[in-house]
Amino acid sequence: MLRGSAKALPLILPYTLMMNDRIKILKANLNDTTALSVIAATTFYDTYGAYNKQETIQRYIDKWFSTSQMCKELSDDRIIYYLVYDQQQLSGYIKLQFVNPHQNSDLNGVELSRLYLLKQWHGSGVSEVMLNHCYKIAEELKQDAIWLSVWEKNNRAIRFYEKHGFVKKGNLIFKMDDEDQNDFLMVKHLI
Ligand SMILES: CC(C)(COP(=O)(O)OP(=O)(O)OC[C@H]1O[C@@H](n2cnc3c(N)ncnc32)[C@H](O)[C@@H]1OP(=O)(O)O)[C@@H](O)C(=O)NCCC(=O)NCCS
Repeated sequence: MLRGSAKALPLILPYTLMMNDRIKILKANLNDTTALSVIAATTFYDTYGAYNKQETIQRYIDKWFSTSQMCKELSDDRIIYYLVYDQQQLSGYIKLQFVNPHQNSDLNGVELSRLYLLKQWHGSGVSEVMLNHCYKIAEELKQDAIWLSVWEKNNRAIRFYEKHGFVKKGNLIFKMDDEDQNDFLMVKHLI
């Protein structure tokens, strides 16, 4: 059974969250399909493009970041997307979900499936605001933990998660199209 697959995210989640005067985090809806598709493809390519065959990454992007796929996911009540704006400029996005099983079936946790910023916002502090937003949503969803999967060679992201209290708990295989890649499973307990 897919852990949490029957769970629907509550409708009471706020549509708009002002994190501070500068950064705004908005829950995405179907009107955001194109923006989400573009930022997801751009940030994914920026992060992994140099480490993969172009045709492999292109196939992955075509499959997972098409507007039709985004429409499907935005209509799935197990998935929630947020768009992140810094002074009105789209700078990143977050995807939280209850779709995949966690290795430890006792963990009451939500998966942080994607947390991506455009390159010009790396090191700006926006990522920490995004993580704080994830903690808040996880708490609203009565989750005790956040878990994620990160490519073993994505040292910047690993360092980022570790400095914010995520701990490596094992390994996972990520399917980049037809290629298997090694990921670390990382978990942060919120209580
Ligand atoms: C991952 C991400 C959200 C982190 O946000 P960020 O603003 O870059 O994070 P920070 O700058 O606060 O922290 C990065 C840390 O990694 C360190 N770092 C940078 N490059 C590094 C490298 N090549 N190897 C190891 N550490 C590195 C930085 O020095 C910093 O650590 P420090 O604060 O101790 O100095 C952002 O880089 C991003 O969007 N990357 C592309 C998408 C991605 O990889 N998402 C995660 C997928 S699971």
